[in-house]
Amino acid sequence: MWCIRLNLRPRPIAKDVYWIGVNDDIKELFESLWPLPFGISYNAYVVIGNDAIALIDAVDERFAYDYIGRVREVVGDFNKIYYIVVNHLEPDHHGATPYILEAMPKAKLITSQMGSRILSSIYRVSSNRILAVKDGDKIELGGKTLRFIYTPWLHWPETMVTYLEEDEILFSCDAFGSYGSLQKGIFDDELDMDFYIDEARRYFSNIVIKYARNVLEAFEKLKNIEIKILAPSHGPIYRSNSNRIIELYKKWSQPIPEKDRVLLIYGSMYGRGELIIEHIIERLSQEGLKITSHNVSTSHPSYILSDLVESYIVVFIYPSYDAGIFPYMEDIMRLFQLKQAGRGRYAATINVYAWASTAKQATELLTKAGFKIIEPIVETKAMPNEEELKKMETLINNIIKTIK
Ligand SMILES: Cc1cc2nc3c(=O)[nH]c(=O)nc-3n(C[C@H](O)[C@H](O)[C@H](O)COP(=O)(O)O)c2cc1C
Ligand SMILES: [Fe+2]
Ligand SMILES: [Fe+2]
Repeated sequence: MWCIRLNLRPRPIAKDVYWIGVNDDIKELFESLWPLPFGISYNAYVVIGNDAIALIDAVDERFAYDYIGRVREVVGDFNKIYYIVVNHLEPDHHGATPYILEAMPKAKLITSQMGSRILSSIYRVSSNRILAVKDGDKIELGGKTLRFIYTPWLHWPETMVTYLEEDEILFSCDAFGSYGSLQKGIFDDELDMDFYIDEARRYFSNIVIKYARNVLEAFEKLKNIEIKILAPSHGPIYRSNSNRIIELYKKWSQPIPEKDRVLLIYGSMYGRGELIIEHIIERLSQEGLKITSHNVSTSHPSYILSDLVESYIVVFIYPSYDAGIFPYMEDIMRLFQLKQAGRGRYAATINVYAWASTAKQATELLTKAGFKIIEPIVETKAMPNEEELKKMETLINNIIKTIK
């Protein structure tokens, strides 16, 4: 279900700096993968100097004319717009840019060196309208200085962030972004931040987690920068408490999961495996561990990934299926592998089968995903025998030992 809601008007975020973002409440799946039950915003900004005006990023192609209209509300004369900063080429930010270039004849695209090399592979833009900048380069707009900091892999190889020196605003693009459109305000102190922080964690786990190491490298690069306002390209702008999301990003990226948090991911066709799941939940709860569980047949992978972020141990319980891993379970394992989401975490597996175990395939996938494996790997018939029960108890004890 979706509905079209109104956009907030452009709003100042500092003197001569405006938010001109749009809400997308139409798209149901971001990247055609990740559910958007509460929409998403594409934040973009205008910086007005005495001599020149720069736009910081743009929006999805479908909102090109909304964007141009919003610029018009803030800037009378398009001929003063000399620059459109392209922090990141992904079409959620720059699908609209070819249309914007037509409307703003003087504007040139500012991108990283890498960005300038791949720009034309995504957009039809003539090279005389592209200005490549190096790490640390600055552009003077007259009383407003933009500094460009190359932060590769946040979230593509070309990505950079832009720092407005006089106002101490960091335009961080995807980093620190969140799902959820901006309905009641644009600043952290105007919004229900518990909701947006949850959605920022889901966003991090879906989009950024693979590049966690690059996030840490970016922090190293940015450590001497004062950030008064943190202005990402999705979700709230942080002007009151940017520390909260910055500290969470450090924690999620290292990662520093909550030691006593266990994520239980399971699949079961006929409920045999569920007896085992119930037993494990009971035993781990007795130890005071916090357990979050997901049934792969009903939970969307977006939310499973999100709950992985703060979990230290993941327990996988699933049946064999047509000589393979239960399909949706295999999907989530492969997704973890693609996202390298197991790094810094442990995995325990229990395969329920009738005639042939598939535990070996699962262990291989999970190892490739970056997990350390807790022994023993349990393979059990739906009706476990003495030996299988004993193995399961050993696994449970080893899970507890790993935590304590
Ligand atoms: C469609 C289907 C395919 C199956 N394929 C396998 C298999 O390849 N190897 C195996 O050992 N068991 C296979 N089984 C049996 C299940 O793994 C076994 O019944 C298990 O106990 C199911 O656990 P559940 O009740 O938690 O779903 C299959 C069952 C179904 C329904
Ligand atoms: Fe992106
Ligand atoms: Fe984005």
